Amino acid sequence: MKDTVYLKKKTKISSFKFNQEVTNVFDDMLVRSVPLYEVIHKSIINIIKKVYFSNCKILDLGCSNGKLFSVLLSEQLNVKYIGVDSSPFMIKEALGRYNDKNCQFITKNIDQDFKMENIDIVVANLTIQFIQPEIRQQLIKNLYHSLNKNSYLIIVEKEICENNDLAALFTEIYHDFKKQHGYSDLEIQQKIKALKNILIPFTAQQNIDLLKNAGFEKINPFIRWFNFSGYIAKK
Ligand SMILES: C[S@@+](CC[C@H](N)C(=O)[O-])C[C@H]1O[C@@H](n2cnc3c(N)ncnc32)[C@H](O)[C@@H]1O
Repeated sequence: MKDTVYLKKKTKISSFKFNQEVTNVFDDMLVRSVPLYEVIHKSIINIIKKVYFSNCKILDLGCSNGKLFSVLLSEQLNVKYIGVDSSPFMIKEALGRYNDKNCQFITKNIDQDFKMENIDIVVANLTIQFIQPEIRQQLIKNLYHSLNKNSYLIIVEKEICENNDLAALFTEIYHDFKKQHGYSDLEIQQKIKALKNILIPFTAQQNIDLLKNAGFEKINPFIRWFNFSGYIAKK
């Protein structure tokens, strides 16, 4: 279904939520709003294919409607997948799409107390940016401790440049991307307002520091498009 959430002028713009309306149009919204969205999934799968072993446990934080699981399925990898998301609408959608003995979808708010055990790969694709900044460090530390030794954390984030001039330039390029994918200026501006204080991007350095301070020593970017970056970190 086409994303028309911000198509019409709204008298009052409320904070962005992963509600039923957004869930209904989510596939279209992400492809048209996130540069390289499908390439990001393919890159994550490329990493997983190289490092996974039979029955390894993959935790997908902010799994939304389970898109990553669909890509895993198409590769026929023998893994145990756990998708976690705070939106009951997204989890209901995921459960409706996938009924597989190797996957589990859980509605849960990820906060500073979130922890799991014996995880082999954690993926957080465009999710940490929605977590309150003051608890991000503790969360990443907990994720480090949730991982087995020699395991991996993969995060992808929308970022902000440290330099204001470059930040403005990258934002313009990003808005051009959205316009090329059919969003109007009104849609772009209304969504910016809705996401204010909801999606809070860090700089690349802040994200790398989060990983370093959590205990990861092997960290590298694996994908970048202007203000979007993906990192792999090995425990
Ligand atoms: C941009 S979407 C993630 C996209 C998804 N990972 C993918 O690959 O298509 C962000 C997701 O994070 C979830 N989310 C935001 N804050 C959360 C929190 N505190 N706990 C759990 N999930 C959260 C939202 O409900 C939403 O589904």
